[in-house]
Amino acid sequence: MLRDTQFRHITVSPITGALGADIHGIDLASHPDDPAFDEVRRALDKYHVVAVREQNLTPQTLHTVARRFGPFSGNPVHAPIEGLDDIIRFVREPDDTGKVIGEDWHMDLAWMAKPPGLTMLYGEVIPPVGGDTCFSSLAQAYRALSPGMQALLHDRIGVHSGKGVFEINAANSRLALREDAQNIDTIEAEHPIVCVHPATGERYLFVSSVMQSIKGLTAEESRPLIDYLLRHAVRPEFNCRVRWAPRTLTIWANPFVLHTAINDYPGYRRVTYRTTVEGWVPMAVPAASDTIAQAA
Ligand SMILES: [Fe+2]
Repeated sequence: MLRDTQFRHITVSPITGALGADIHGIDLASHPDDPAFDEVRRALDKYHVVAVREQNLTPQTLHTVARRFGPFSGNPVHAPIEGLDDIIRFVREPDDTGKVIGEDWHMDLAWMAKPPGLTMLYGEVIPPVGGDTCFSSLAQAYRALSPGMQALLHDRIGVHSGKGVFEINAANSRLALREDAQNIDTIEAEHPIVCVHPATGERYLFVSSVMQSIKGLTAEESRPLIDYLLRHAVRPEFNCRVRWAPRTLTIWANPFVLHTAINDYPGYRRVTYRTTVEGWVPMAVPAASDTIAQAA
């Protein structure tokens, strides 16, 4: 297994050449010292998805660990577990059929004005085989576009809508939804299609499954372009696949990736806990550097 020698306090091993890393050698629940914790943050900036192995978390300690990464983003859809406002529980029972939670490529809560900056998902009960999560890098997707397409997309604004999100979630009988969750049908957020990371300056394509239109274009013009971008964004060379094990905590830089749950474990139980960390208002490329050159 390749080890990234930039990291000295934890063991970081890339999953693919596109994104993602496995992390060993840190126990997040025992309040690791700042250098080790900072390296997890740095690994997230570099790899956008990290699978932190061999953790031993309860909902309460997941809450404590998550809040060290930042405040809760809020979640207008799912009802939290009792006593912890920022933790939700996903359950799939062995005899459940139909779609699994999170099936189909998406970004979590992309229709919020400030989509979560991080999503953290802890595996408590994991099938012996199957149930992986796939990720795709929106930074790689941006870099792979032609200069002409990059130029076309600069200064363009995508409209992301919560319409239909309630219905998808309500169709899953295991999901607890907030009483006012239906209100998300009316929420829309406008995000630049080409964004920059506020800290690293890295450029990425901000597309999501709930992107409905592109401002300034007609519906007929928008739809084929959105469909193309969504197909492009999940090309296999931009992907990694996290194979879960019990006690894995997977953390992803939510606006930088699309992800999808794999529905291939009928007959097995799966229990995970999720929380999200506040992000930022997606930022367009600053006017002064508004060229089609790729970010360093
Ligand atoms: Fe998700």
